[in-house]
Amino acid sequence: MRLILDTANLADIRYFNDYFPICGVTTNPTILSREGGDIVSHLEKIREMIGADKELHVQVTETEYERMEAEAEAIVSLLGKNTFVKIPATPDGMRATRELSARGFGITVTAVLSASQAMLAAEAGAAYVAPYVSRLENIGADGVGCVRDMARILAASGRRTEILAASFKTAREVLECALVGVQVATVSSDVMKNLLRHTTTDTSVTGFAADWKGAFGDSTLLELIKNR
Ligand code: E4P
Repeated sequence: MRLILDTANLADIRYFNDYFPICGVTTNPTILSREGGDIVSHLEKIREMIGADKELHVQVTETEYERMEAEAEAIVSLLGKNTFVKIPATPDGMRATRELSARGFGITVTAVLSASQAMLAAEAGAAYVAPYVSRLENIGADGVGCVRDMARILAASGRRTEILAASFKTAREVLECALVGVQVATVSSDVMKNLLRHTTTDTSVTGFAADWKGAFGDSTLLELIKNR
């Protein structure tokens, strides 16, 4: 499963882009509101930081389809190729998705809370549908089950729409989505760290270092090879 970082924090983007196998960054108006300031320049900085080949998902703030389309054009013109325009699953959003997708824009239909919304988004030509897994789990619904239904519907549709699962609060939810065949997940910095972190990894690494030092002292294997 491909992983995307769900933040607009520049320090986090720099760190995870350098160290973790992420294929892009997702934002939404709430995420951008946390950064404040000149948000247009901020988005340009994110693009510069991740490079032209990674995905950057930016959500429209307009709510009427013609204005969403004008905003989508402006977003892509500002941020270049591999920029995906996030459009909420509303009636105006469906129309904008259909018209923009027909013109070659990459659209991520977002705020998807049901399999039927995902089905409509795929028929409208969306590149991605973004189900909000934790928001479903938080209201007592079966978020992962809903994503499983979406995966089956999209596979049967023959459409190329991929699931970009979003709104995760735990690493376990991400894994469960991977197990039901989700292609892409966008996760916060904390969840990304938790996908890797394991205390037994830490104790194993500490043990390896202690055993090595006990046998060979302070020299690393690299130093021993170079000094041979
Ligand atoms: C994706 O970019 C979504 O907007 C995001 O994952 C929503 O996450 P939240 O439910 O934690 O706000």
